Amino acid sequence: MADCASAEGCWPPQAKKECAPAAASCCGEGGGACGDGGPAKVEEEPSSSSDGGKSCGDAAAVAAPESVDVVISNCVINLTPDKRPVLSEAARILKPGGELYFSDVFADRRIPKHLRDDKVLFGECLSGALYVKDFGQLMSEVGLGAWGVVNHLLITANNEKILERVGDITFYSLTVRAIKVDPSKLEDALEDFGQTATYNGAIPGYEEFFSLDLKNTFAKGKPTPVDGLTASLILSSRYGPHFSVTEKGSHRGIFCGENAIAGGPVGWALFLAKEAKNAPPAKCGSCCC
Ligand SMILES: C[S@@+](CC[C@H](N)C(=O)[O-])C[C@H]1O[C@@H](n2cnc3c(N)ncnc32)[C@H](O)[C@@H]1O
Repeated sequence: MADCASAEGCWPPQAKKECAPAAASCCGEGGGACGDGGPAKVEEEPSSSSDGGKSCGDAAAVAAPESVDVVISNCVINLTPDKRPVLSEAARILKPGGELYFSDVFADRRIPKHLRDDKVLFGECLSGALYVKDFGQLMSEVGLGAWGVVNHLLITANNEKILERVGDITFYSLTVRAIKVDPSKLEDALEDFGQTATYNGAIPGYEEFFSLDLKNTFAKGKPTPVDGLTASLILSSRYGPHFSVTEKGSHRGIFCGENAIAGGPVGWALFLAKEAKNAPPAKCGSCCC
């Protein structure tokens, strides 16, 4: 597992032990690599290691082989001026069927340049937020087009001046799960081949049900209709051993199951921006959760 920009918690002497909590709990002995830096930090402390500890580096140029099972990250991509190399590095180091699981700040529109140039708004993890539709495009371009939203939360500011500056832009945090699949297997719509997926309830902490994302929840032991892409995502990912998935049958047209999404994950994420706006303010305030 690689934690992209895990921050100070993973620096020696805590490396390995106090890697981001998720990494620490998921990595066995010797597993797990944390990275943090950005160009300034690399100059300041140019050490690195590839032994399962931390490495210092720019998320846009990661020193890791293409064999990582899971890349995680929290509240980092919005702070990078160019998101493309960060996402494409995550895609590169993942093995086929590997997963990028991250939370970050998104916006319901493109942020105007004068706000992107505002150092306070940028440092507050707001004005570097990606417009969710551009994010979807970027994910497809870097080979991570198979993604879904796992969680969402409105981001609010308590500061009047900040609120005035950002106007009616909606900022929200999304937790995204993307599985690396062969891009040639992706279609622009979910297609139905009559398949079902049945969850075995064996993932610790998810004994009764497991949600691949907000649109794909599987109750233990219940055959659940899935589109062809979701079926192959499950089988090619680390979730495969926990599911039985029926064989692909003849094509039955567009998938209309409960998890069908108008406009794909981008459409769903844009819808969530509207939902977030009408939701009560989040307890955790700004940044990602
Ligand atoms: C808001 S903190 C989040 C830290 C950690 N992921 C967490 O959840 O607590 C953002 C982190 O991103 C790092 N960072 C910013 N730009 C970076 C870049 N281009 N490459 C790697 N790390 C970067 C910063 O050093 C900082 O530790």
